Amino acid sequence: MAFDLFDDFHTRYAIGSVPRLFHAPGRVNLIGEHTDYNGGLVLPCAIDRGTRLLMRRTESRGIKLSSNNFDLMAILSPEEIANKYGDHWINYPLGVIAQFAKRGYAVEGIECLYAGDVPNGAGLSSSASVTVVTAFAINALFGFKLSPLELVHIARGAENEFVGLACGIMDPYAIAMAQSGHAMALDCGTLSCEQVPLQLDGHHFVISNSNQRRELSESGYNTRFDECVDALSLVQESIDVRDLASVSEAQLETLAGKFASREHLFGRVRHVVSEQSRVVAAGQALHTGDLKQFGQLMCASHRSLAEDFEVSTHALDALVEAAMATSGVLGSRMTGAGFGGCTVSLVANDALDRFESEVAACYHSATGLTADFYRVSPADGAMELLT
Ligand code: GLA
Repeated sequence: MAFDLFDDFHTRYAIGSVPRLFHAPGRVNLIGEHTDYNGGLVLPCAIDRGTRLLMRRTESRGIKLSSNNFDLMAILSPEEIANKYGDHWINYPLGVIAQFAKRGYAVEGIECLYAGDVPNGAGLSSSASVTVVTAFAINALFGFKLSPLELVHIARGAENEFVGLACGIMDPYAIAMAQSGHAMALDCGTLSCEQVPLQLDGHHFVISNSNQRRELSESGYNTRFDECVDALSLVQESIDVRDLASVSEAQLETLAGKFASREHLFGRVRHVVSEQSRVVAAGQALHTGDLKQFGQLMCASHRSLAEDFEVSTHALDALVEAAMATSGVLGSRMTGAGFGGCTVSLVANDALDRFESEVAACYHSATGLTADFYRVSPADGAMELLT
């Protein structure tokens, strides 16, 4: 693929210096959903699918962006890049360049070619894969010497401030910092992170794509973010907490009355508080190798996301139900923001083929949709690929 990409680069851009090749993975979140922007815990791992980027600097001023996943090539002057480019994927790299500019680092002449195999809009962080790979490549080519954590903030800032999605730090952090064979137990309140070995003892994480596409910026994601802000204000009238993830289960009991006329907001808080406990328990289950317990926590997480946080859909519920009706499956849940996208299931290796055929059939008869399956392995984070 790398060599084809070089050929493709040279047919799109004029003869010049050799571009450098970078890669950033997608990610799957194993548990800890909608907790990152509430200061809570998450447990994602990077996957062996991602975005490759060939980039080179040019003497002439101009930002040239193209992808072999989409037709359009954008050629913009440095003056033009301050504005959003419609609803296009190009906004992700533009948002990254704007974040560098905000920090005083000018990026005025680059040529870029992207190629990715993370499905778009499926909850596997295709967008953070693009923002992170762009940030890593610019940092290396321009010698800015920013730390990986600063690049994570740049990637998140691109989505928050340019694209307009109030997402948390989980996705860029996981994509930048991942180590192959590990999941990350990340505390999004403190940014302390432990790499947890994923010893799956004859099991595999399988992603099932509902093929019910969602557009995060247009979906209820920002609404959920705002609801959590409102819920936190109400909670803080009674207890002194920094964020929703810091509310204890005991404190939660005392709060129900406060939400008497706003039941749905109480559900949002209950999800964040209970999910926080599940991530702690899931981390312990991984340490002790108790995959059965891990699977049960995945299922409980899905129920909470469906009933209390209300971000699941009929299609995602149908996928989880079909997965859990298949023997050899320890757990299953929606992953990512929800409103469509993917589920992740923990499946015994000898049940993988059966899983895919049975889930596909059940899912199709429940929804009329065709699912796709990806057997993923925990991969490394963003890096330059030396060719
Ligand atoms: C999206 C966001 C993340 C996180 C998840 C839900 O992937 O980008 O920050 O909030 O949804 O857990």
